Amino acid sequence: MSANILINSPNLKYTDTHIEAQYSYQTTSVHQEGNKLTVTPRTTEMIFRTERHVPRLGVMLVGWGGNNGTTVTAAVLANKLGLTWRTKNGEKKANYFGSFLQSSTVCLGSGSEGEVNVPFCDLLPMVHPNDIIFDGWDISSMDLGRAMERAQVLDWSLQEQLRPYMCCLKPRPSISIPDFIAANQDSRADNVLTGTMAEQVIIRADIRDFKLSSGVDKVIVLWTANTERFCDITPGVNDTAKNLLATIQNGGEVSPSTLFAVASILEGCAFINGSPQNTFVPGAVELAVERGVFIGGDDFKSGQTKIKSVLVDFLVSAGIKPTSIVSYNHLGNNDGKNLSAPQQFRSKEISKSNVVDDMVQSNSVLYQPGEKPDHCVVIKYVPYVGDSKRAMDEYTSEIMMGGINTIAMHHTCEDSLLASPIILDLVILTELCQRVTIKPQGEEDFQSFHSVLALLSFLCKAPLVPPGSPVINAFFRQRACIENIMRACLGLPPQSHMLLEHKLQKNFLTAHTSFINNDVASVKKVALTNGKHTLVPLINALISGNVHQNVIVNELKDAQLLKNIADL
Ligand SMILES: NC(=O)c1ccc[n+]([C@@H]2O[C@H](COP(=O)([O-])OP(=O)(O)OC[C@H]3O[C@@H](n4cnc5c(N)ncnc54)[C@H](O)[C@@H]3O)[C@@H](O)[C@H]2O)c1
Repeated sequence: MSANILINSPNLKYTDTHIEAQYSYQTTSVHQEGNKLTVTPRTTEMIFRTERHVPRLGVMLVGWGGNNGTTVTAAVLANKLGLTWRTKNGEKKANYFGSFLQSSTVCLGSGSEGEVNVPFCDLLPMVHPNDIIFDGWDISSMDLGRAMERAQVLDWSLQEQLRPYMCCLKPRPSISIPDFIAANQDSRADNVLTGTMAEQVIIRADIRDFKLSSGVDKVIVLWTANTERFCDITPGVNDTAKNLLATIQNGGEVSPSTLFAVASILEGCAFINGSPQNTFVPGAVELAVERGVFIGGDDFKSGQTKIKSVLVDFLVSAGIKPTSIVSYNHLGNNDGKNLSAPQQFRSKEISKSNVVDDMVQSNSVLYQPGEKPDHCVVIKYVPYVGDSKRAMDEYTSEIMMGGINTIAMHHTCEDSLLASPIILDLVILTELCQRVTIKPQGEEDFQSFHSVLALLSFLCKAPLVPPGSPVINAFFRQRACIENIMRACLGLPPQSHMLLEHKLQKNFLTAHTSFINNDVASVKKVALTNGKHTLVPLINALISGNVHQNVIVNELKDAQLLKNIADL
């Protein structure tokens, strides 16, 4: 159930277009000389401004015909249609479990009945997943109805209900450079663009075409295609934006995912990488910063790594010393097949390897400088288990007086059903961030978040952050960051969990009785109906998916091609 939130504060101003919050940002700076630490609290006044208008959002998935691509599209359709279906365990109903925005709550504060929790998505005006219109590319030409069947993720009786809609959706031809993904994917690639690398940046025209034909206000592009091998970072090739664009023109080494990132950035569309490879070579990051476009990644944090980012945080913050972490997986979907090739596995191994670093480095009582637990990751391909991934983890830790503490875990999870809600959270959060600007005291202008959108760290295994920023992997720190920034947008203090009013002998807080901001007109405007949304007619989604393959007629492609290359 969604909540109407009324902020009763003189620090909050509502206009027809914006929510504007006066905010005191409190930080603590520490100066270290030897073992003497001088600690200075600092307060920076700032204004948070959030655009209230929620746009119609289009999402283009690279790898649309894969397990994640078909599952997220089917899940949104099933929710939009309010579908139910029978299984041997009884009737099931479409939902968004696993999406922290749709299905988790945050504590707003305390009332007479105790703490008041509301859905995360009710804090600020944001896109509802039911309103997202999907489109995308895949090197496999299979329509989404058949691809959903190939994925073997959803119950059959649900697939039967969805098939008439899903069959109308067909992935656009994509860029394929076979060297980047496993050779075992070759048989799937029957829907690929031809021509030089520069010519294949025709995908820019696809983005424009989708925007035009579907009527969405904004497009976000997300890579959920196969894991690629890592790309070498080579001076003169991909180290700067200029060199990267020149390399695309001349046909040097650029991965398909980087080509998609460049195309999105040049179209002014945010680009998110859900796989582990180093799509964001320095030249791509520089291009995003130059153009003021958001990029985020890498690699969805869905199962084993998510647990690791909770469990190691728990152990280290409890003063227990993890000394060895061994993570074994087997899975049988196409992702597993691709990862069975050594170079693609290596990308995944790297992305999974650094997840404990920040937690380990935070505790100099347990760890000497440079000391880390042993950390080993194994992935095996076992076709029979399909999308139902098995993860077995062993955490060995040192406890008091030479004692050993071993936690062994077996985790069976349906991989694409964990990744799909993360895809939705990633695009919805990115879209919201595009509507938030901040003006710190003393600055002339409002500024947006850095192009490298570190706020997405919560949803990523190997968070991409602006150069020089700390990488935070700890799950609850990441979540608190998002929650507190959203509270700041409403002029509310960070959630401190102190609950002092319940810890002293006498409660010192009196209940508020009247509005501080008594202006009735503004109070009316204050009532937020976040989470409420206008349903996009289903047909629009189908039109966007159905028509596009016919809409990009060859003439348009040729005309755009010349322009694309010129624009590069
Ligand atoms: N499911 C999860 O829990 C999870 C978690 C983290 C990361 N990931 C990553 O997400 C990605 C997708 O996972 P999946 O299970 O959907 O895999 P999948 O193999 O089922 O789907 C990938 C799709 O990408 C397509 N593809 C490959 N190269 C392409 C290209 N150049 N352009 C367009 N399409 C291309 C394939 O044909 C396939 O349909 C993988 O890289 C995986 O490592 C998944």
